[in-house]
Amino acid sequence: MCGIVGFTSNNINVAPILLDGLSKLEYRGYDSAGIAVRDGSSEPKIVKAKGRLRLLSEKTNGGAAVPGTCGIGHTRWATHGEPSETNAHPHCTDDGNVVGVHNGIIENYVELKEKLTRKGYTFYSQTDTEVAIKMVDYYYKKYNMGPIDAIAKTMVRVRGSYALAVMFKEYPGEIYVARKDSPMIIGVEEDETYVASDVPAVLKYTRQVYYIGNLEMAKLSPGNAVFYNLDGDEIEKELVEIKWDAEAAEKGGYEHFMMKEIHEQPKAVKDTINSVVTVDESSGAQIDLSSVGLTEEEIRSISNIYIVACGSAYHVGVAAQYVIEDLVKVPVRVELASEFRYRKPLLDKNGLVIIISQSGETADSLAALREAKAKGIRTLAIVNVIGSSIAREADNVFYTLAGPEIAVATTKAYSTQLVASYLLAIQFAYVRGELNMDKYRELITELQTIPDKISRVLEDKERIQWFASKFSNAKDVFFIGRGIDYAICLEGSLKMKEISYIHSEAYAAGELKHGTISLIEDGTLVIGVMTQSELYEKTVSNLVEVKSRGAYLMGLAPYGKYEIEDTADFVTYVPRTDEHFTPSLAVIPLQLMGYYISVARGLDVDKPRNLAKSVTVE
Ligand code: AGP
Repeated sequence: MCGIVGFTSNNINVAPILLDGLSKLEYRGYDSAGIAVRDGSSEPKIVKAKGRLRLLSEKTNGGAAVPGTCGIGHTRWATHGEPSETNAHPHCTDDGNVVGVHNGIIENYVELKEKLTRKGYTFYSQTDTEVAIKMVDYYYKKYNMGPIDAIAKTMVRVRGSYALAVMFKEYPGEIYVARKDSPMIIGVEEDETYVASDVPAVLKYTRQVYYIGNLEMAKLSPGNAVFYNLDGDEIEKELVEIKWDAEAAEKGGYEHFMMKEIHEQPKAVKDTINSVVTVDESSGAQIDLSSVGLTEEEIRSISNIYIVACGSAYHVGVAAQYVIEDLVKVPVRVELASEFRYRKPLLDKNGLVIIISQSGETADSLAALREAKAKGIRTLAIVNVIGSSIAREADNVFYTLAGPEIAVATTKAYSTQLVASYLLAIQFAYVRGELNMDKYRELITELQTIPDKISRVLEDKERIQWFASKFSNAKDVFFIGRGIDYAICLEGSLKMKEISYIHSEAYAAGELKHGTISLIEDGTLVIGVMTQSELYEKTVSNLVEVKSRGAYLMGLAPYGKYEIEDTADFVTYVPRTDEHFTPSLAVIPLQLMGYYISVARGLDVDKPRNLAKSVTVE
């Protein structure tokens, strides 16, 4: 997830406004930034900087060093190519004919890059964006039909998501934009026109905005915006007045970043799946781990898998253990990084240590990685922040594409880590001959339905909100489940504790009677997670046990298991899916429970007491 801005006016220097707009979008990405500004028909001056936006501002003297009345800017969250000045946007053709910025993911950029290379193009960066910009240039020159047609032809050829803002040498003062799936708004005042990824970037300058639709384009000139559909026909758009305040706007209209990120999960999961799943007519869907760097021979040689992480990332590992062992038939051990690093672990020399970390900077997880490497064991990191310490030091990296996660309580990063572990399990199982082609494709196809199924769970959030409000003063909450449902309980319990400050425990349902059941009192909330058909009846009987001791029961089950309503006082259902993938759906109501109870208690949901987003100390 990145942030783009653009501004064109008759006589205002745009650079300071671009920088200001980017500063309002830093929550969307902050590993590098850049602006391109042109004064009249001059060549655009491009200035880029790795690191926080502050460095770009210093480099351009707050924008004063880059005069010009038309420009674009970008703050990056790296997806393709490490954070660097070279990979930072804007990207430009060698002759300066086209320069642009992009937020999104061009899924077929490799094939397009090969095509352009055959046409004589060269590339200086590792980004998909440079490919997109040069694709526009290619069509602009090939058809000589102007910017809108060049962009339209590019949109037809490209697969993926984009919010694109482009300037053409021969069209001074104008910015051309195109959108598919990534957010974009257009602001217009009397003599100025703005484009940005999100409202916060323009709110200071205008509240009059157009929402450009999917597969639509626009030509922006000072005080004017003309919209086009994919056929290049002009279309009318309604000007909308923004009522949000600046703070609300940064959260995209949500009250908290956490809720915004909960709702970003379908897209984050879809982007992560699409980063390694390719689909073509002849061979159908398949997983390509070349970006992770593990060869099939290395996959076949794995004897054991050790998953090491902290917090929610550890809970991903607990769920992944069930999936990997069931599919890959390889022993998996999951460990807390803070234990692993001091345990003097006995690791098989042909083992694989998987480190899971959103930030890629967690001290215990980094130390565990180094411990594994010191023992000569291959390491694979599942990481969200490109170029982070764990990503740099691991032998192999599987990047999740959750985008920047601001709330301390992880949601979308957790969900992308889950699907990353499913993808590894499916590919490992296939490569090792544990899955035939039909089952392989069946699992991949089912996995591709998860984003929409997460969206369906989110549609039920008002019911969860109503139920959560009844327990905002709870003293203890218990989450119980068996098998992979227990792993889901671990995450649900942590969400509850870390943002609502209510004591909570996750328990293997079969273990409750060995002591902890003594804590159950009248009205104690017990949440039973029952997504595994073979274990369903067992967990139901555990719920009956606690109900007979006064517990108030919430059930979480797949659609169709309606008989649970004879036992549980409140039930929430999730869409059916392959039972390896149910954590991705069952965790959503539990995230919402923690969120709504925290809100009901008037707590700081995004920044809970005592916690940090990344624990970079022991
Ligand atoms: C989860 O909501 C917490 N923020 C915390 O448990 C977190 O998962 C843990 O600190 C690990 O962080 P990492 O993924 O950045 O390594």
